[in-house]
Amino acid sequence: MSKPINLQLGWPSTRLFPVEQLAEATQAALSDPEVASSALIYGPDLGYAPLRKSIASWLSSFYQPAAGEIPSERIAITGGASQNLANILQVFTDPEVTQRVWMVEPTYFLACTIFQDAGFSEKLRGVPENDGGIDVKWLRKALVEFEGRSDSHSSHRTKPSEQYQKIYRHVLYLTPTFSNPSAKTMGTNVREQLIDLVREYDILIISDDVYDFLRWPEEPTSESTKLTPIPPRLSDVDRATSSDDEWGNAISNGSFSKIVAPGVRVGWAEGSPKQILRLSETGSTRSGGAPSHLTSTFINHLLTSGSLQKHIDEVLIPTYQSRYRVLMTAIKQYLQPLGVLITTGSPYMETTENTTIVPAGGFFTYITFPPELPSADIIAKRAKEEYSLIFAYGEMFVVQGDKTSSERSHKGFGRGARLCWAWHEEKEMQEGIERLAKLLRIMLKECQT
Ligand SMILES: Cc1ncc(COP(=O)(O)O)c(C=O)c1O
Repeated sequence: MSKPINLQLGWPSTRLFPVEQLAEATQAALSDPEVASSALIYGPDLGYAPLRKSIASWLSSFYQPAAGEIPSERIAITGGASQNLANILQVFTDPEVTQRVWMVEPTYFLACTIFQDAGFSEKLRGVPENDGGIDVKWLRKALVEFEGRSDSHSSHRTKPSEQYQKIYRHVLYLTPTFSNPSAKTMGTNVREQLIDLVREYDILIISDDVYDFLRWPEEPTSESTKLTPIPPRLSDVDRATSSDDEWGNAISNGSFSKIVAPGVRVGWAEGSPKQILRLSETGSTRSGGAPSHLTSTFINHLLTSGSLQKHIDEVLIPTYQSRYRVLMTAIKQYLQPLGVLITTGSPYMETTENTTIVPAGGFFTYITFPPELPSADIIAKRAKEEYSLIFAYGEMFVVQGDKTSSERSHKGFGRGARLCWAWHEEKEMQEGIERLAKLLRIMLKECQT
């Protein structure tokens, strides 16, 4: 049996962890008595203040938001994007009042359980993607239909309004940049349309912005990767455009998992100061202090010393960029001639000074198998059994509990697969694609007989 190759795993290769920088940061934090004593006691509810400040300034220089520098009042420290998603639901939703959780499909499948834990098992609904990343018209129509129903309003609430001052009527969950799993990036105009829509229908956008920092030009170019543009976050659009509502409608869910290491369990939330303050009042934070407090002091050192940005620029981006090129070349060489398509939507692009740059980035790409082949789960099963090759097949990304999402998947994303370049080295990725091509050739022949 050949060596297993796992193109499903959305984890960074362990050799890419900044171990030495973390050791130095740990030493620096713990050998400073002032930092050590504040790091080892309960943290403030909003999180370690120096880290909130460094994140605000780092995000300001990365995103250059139209509304200007990000104040640290817009930032709270979290235990990572998954933990924070659960916290957001605790304070801003009520299963009686919050009517629907809309999830862009194909969706990051592990998020479904977090919504189910919060009482939304019956209320998860998929929103189809189009080439622009989300079908906004479809969502508007679904909202109009839903709000027109006689049973769409309930006067009962589980959480008292004195304590839970802001409960949103709907939630929209998405990964708008280098999406997990579809790799699509929504353009600026799509984001503007979304912000208009969510304000109209009292929707809270929870945007997992966890891949943004890993980006490079799609085509090899002499341009510095630092110039690779990405669109503003939904929280930037929400902040930049006027609204009378101080709560706001978009929270950016950020994480150091993909750029430092998942084990550090540190992330951040960015939203309106009112949202951020209320988020920090989650019961478990009030009792235990901000999550990941000790590790926050290490991450702060990585940011203020510049070693994290250096690691991203000099290790992560060059490695992922190079693996991306190997993977895409192998797909074009071995899979496209068999009828496999790369289905990552219309590329986001920006033109500056006569140069058009199309960014690629994140961890994933998405392919769709030719229609004559059996379903993707059958291909995945055979790939695993016969070629020791694992990949995430389309049906895994159905919005759980939504029959229509499952039906749509049969005709669309369910016929595809997500491939990840974060875990394996270039040689193994190339080998993985060659194994898949061998299997597809056999399966295509079987279809003809
Ligand atoms: C879209 C998305 N959200 C959240 C996570 C998990 O983030 P964290 O490690 O910060 O909990 C992942 C990791 O795969 C992800 O792809």
